[in-house]
Amino acid sequence: MRVLVVGGGGREHALVWHLARSGHQVFCAPGNAGIARVAQCGPVSADDLPGLVRLACQEKVDLTIVGPEAPLVAGAADEFGRQGLRVFGPGRSGARLEGDKAFAKELMLAAGIPTAGFRSFTAFDSARSYLSRHKLPVVVKASGLAAGKGVVVAETLAAAEHAASDMLREGRFGEAGRTVVIEEYLEGEEVSMIGLCDGRRVRLLAPSQDHKRLLDGDRGPNTGGMGAYAPAPMMTPARQQEVEQKVFVPLLAEFARRGIDYRGVIYAGMILTAEGPRVLEFNCRFGDPETQVILPLLDEDLAELAIACIDGKLSELTPKPAQDRAALCVVAAVEGYPGSYGKGMPITGDLVGHDEVVVFHAGTKLEGGRTVTSGGRVLGVTGIGRSLAEAKERAYRALAGIGFPGIVYRRDIGARGLDELAVRS
Ligand SMILES: Nc1ncnc2c1ncn2[C@@H]1O[C@H](COP(=O)(O)OP(=O)(O)O)[C@@H](O)[C@H]1O
Ligand SMILES: [Mg+2]
Repeated sequence: MRVLVVGGGGREHALVWHLARSGHQVFCAPGNAGIARVAQCGPVSADDLPGLVRLACQEKVDLTIVGPEAPLVAGAADEFGRQGLRVFGPGRSGARLEGDKAFAKELMLAAGIPTAGFRSFTAFDSARSYLSRHKLPVVVKASGLAAGKGVVVAETLAAAEHAASDMLREGRFGEAGRTVVIEEYLEGEEVSMIGLCDGRRVRLLAPSQDHKRLLDGDRGPNTGGMGAYAPAPMMTPARQQEVEQKVFVPLLAEFARRGIDYRGVIYAGMILTAEGPRVLEFNCRFGDPETQVILPLLDEDLAELAIACIDGKLSELTPKPAQDRAALCVVAAVEGYPGSYGKGMPITGDLVGHDEVVVFHAGTKLEGGRTVTSGGRVLGVTGIGRSLAEAKERAYRALAGIGFPGIVYRRDIGARGLDELAVRS
């Protein structure tokens, strides 16, 4: 097949890498330095819908997979559909699940999906009065898309009020912060379950765990994700089944009731609380960096799965039993991230990898034949092994040979998973 991947980060490199490995001819817009080794990159931004449609037609692609959420929330899948192009990703009505947290919470409530208790507000005064009665910590979220920066876990009432004021009165996130969701703080392991949906059924992929905080020991500011691993051992087969029954089945039933025809990725971000799994949020696309550990473990052809989803025929593909393997990805970022940081630094070392290690590029570009940094998260170095420990060892060994000025990365990716395995054995 000829497949177009939209986006240019680590997630998209993992998609492109997986598709190319299955023998497809892959195109990517806009791509990055690593993606350019395996796919033909077109200089079209992920937000340029007419440009993307033009590229898909020009290259006569059979399938387009949209990486980031913004184009999906803006209606990319609807537009591709109108042009008769096959696209994997929900239309605007389905993508609202990610693009409008207040809507997603209301939908979860209606569907009986376990989630944190909440209320939504558009007026600061009512938000403040609700906060004054809420126990701490409390979580304040901009309802719309905020590029991972719209959530504040507030330890004090002052911090919570400040966050709500920023969003509702100061217009900090523009339209996206006009509605805020205030919710109960949940405690427990955070895990992600990603499924492929054909409108009626969902096929769950390996459970994974991201590392949101910048520093070791889950300290420091929130980031887009500093590393991930899969499978996450805390998601036992019994828990996976519970999540399927309590989260995905009612979600699809609710979609059916509302006439939402959802064909694409459904990502459930959850906390495993003492009372069972609770959904934090849904995303309408693959996770980043989670995709960088899930796809190396997927022994099926993703393009074939995506087409089956688009055609509503997922049940015709029998899942391959999971192999005993694990993958672990460490994100190499630039000092200063998630704040401001420099760009254009040359990167040295093995930037490709081999069978047991894949170097996924996130913020890289080619400049005069050299690979240089072009973003805060630069690389996702992924080790693959027969165990989590082996995958971790391979990722860190490969990373030790890679360098650029100001490189920073966490040393403890996978630690919670390894602890969980140690407790069990
Ligand atoms: N109710 C909650 N309790 C505890 N932590 C939360 C809660 N909601 C969000 N978080 C933390 O904040 C992060 C971002 O929140 P999320 O709802 O996933 O928004 P987004 O990914 O759009 O920024 C989560 O990954 C989680 O670590
Ligand atoms: Mg999230």
